[in-house]
Amino acid sequence: MADAAHTRRVFSGIKPSGGLTMGNYLGAIKRFVEMQNADYQSIYCVVDMHAITVWQEPDDLRHATRELVAAYIASGIDPDKSILFNQSQVSAHAELGWVFNCVARVGWMNRMTQFKDKAGKNAEAVSLGLYAYPSLMAADILIYHATHVPVGEDQKQHVELTRDIAAKFNHDFKVPDFFPQPEPIIDGPATRVMNLRDGTKKMSKSGQSDMERINMTDDAALIAKKFKKAKSDAEPLPETLAGLAGRPEAKNLVEIYAALSDTTPEAVIAEFAGAQWGRFKPALADLAVAKLEPISLEMARLMQDPAEIDRILAKGADKANAIAQPILDKTYDIVGFVRH
Ligand code: TYM
Repeated sequence: MADAAHTRRVFSGIKPSGGLTMGNYLGAIKRFVEMQNADYQSIYCVVDMHAITVWQEPDDLRHATRELVAAYIASGIDPDKSILFNQSQVSAHAELGWVFNCVARVGWMNRMTQFKDKAGKNAEAVSLGLYAYPSLMAADILIYHATHVPVGEDQKQHVELTRDIAAKFNHDFKVPDFFPQPEPIIDGPATRVMNLRDGTKKMSKSGQSDMERINMTDDAALIAKKFKKAKSDAEPLPETLAGLAGRPEAKNLVEIYAALSDTTPEAVIAEFAGAQWGRFKPALADLAVAKLEPISLEMARLMQDPAEIDRILAKGADKANAIAQPILDKTYDIVGFVRH
């Protein structure tokens, strides 16, 4: 069982909370498409159960769920090649999540930097779900015996925790190979896309100003405006990559250019060595519009037919369940639950 199940299976997920940013696209979705088109079985999820760890208006959650499916498809995820579904519809995620709540240690959760950042000074008032979140994320991955997990840099610690949970489960129940050790796949030039107004902060859905991020629903004029107004610095672009050190905004814009044009920061520097921002920023704005506008237009088109999106999700959930349920059954047998 283990061998067949452990070969090159990709799992990743995105939260339908608020809109999607170019950070999600370059750091995650674009790379999901590449892995789908390589020799991987790929499973991509809209993690709606993770979204509700912070308050979501029910209508907004429904909208964001469908819009994320539209973004996946508009970016090149093919629901006939990849399994595309929403997490709440495959109950094995929540069921394995509970088992993992009993495997993971409180001390491990206390080390999660994302929880500390999100909870801030308010740790007593946030939901219990936000605290337990990484253990559900481990279940998302391991319920498929997934081996590869493409994510942005900010999710690395959660995938490492997933490995610890897998190892402890296998050890405690004396099933050395049952859960695989999934690999975080964090590569390419855009594993941490930064805010366009402050190159030391991550681009996120929740930042204060809309000008600091590119939303996947922004139109061409707005995308161009945001890049033209993006913060830069007083120097021209350097002659070498090393010259970007200590220049967070310049480094970020070069990395975004590299990711959008499927090249490397080295190649971008070679092309624009010594260029002034007055030349580089319009080139970046044009490139971003050329790459992102077709996606936002296609998303809008797909969103006109929500029933079709729901049909895609239903089919995806059936396929996901067909893989997840036997692994859950086996897990329950290992744990000692009496099954009927
Ligand atoms: P989420 O929804 O916050 O982000 C989805 C994906 O986008 C990446 N990302 C970025 N990459 C580069 N630059 C940025 N500025 C940027 N912002 C976001 C994230 O790293 C992520 O890959 N916990 C996860 C969702 C999740 C999951 C999983 C992922 C739940 N279960 C199982 C993988 C496997 C999250 O909140 O991602």
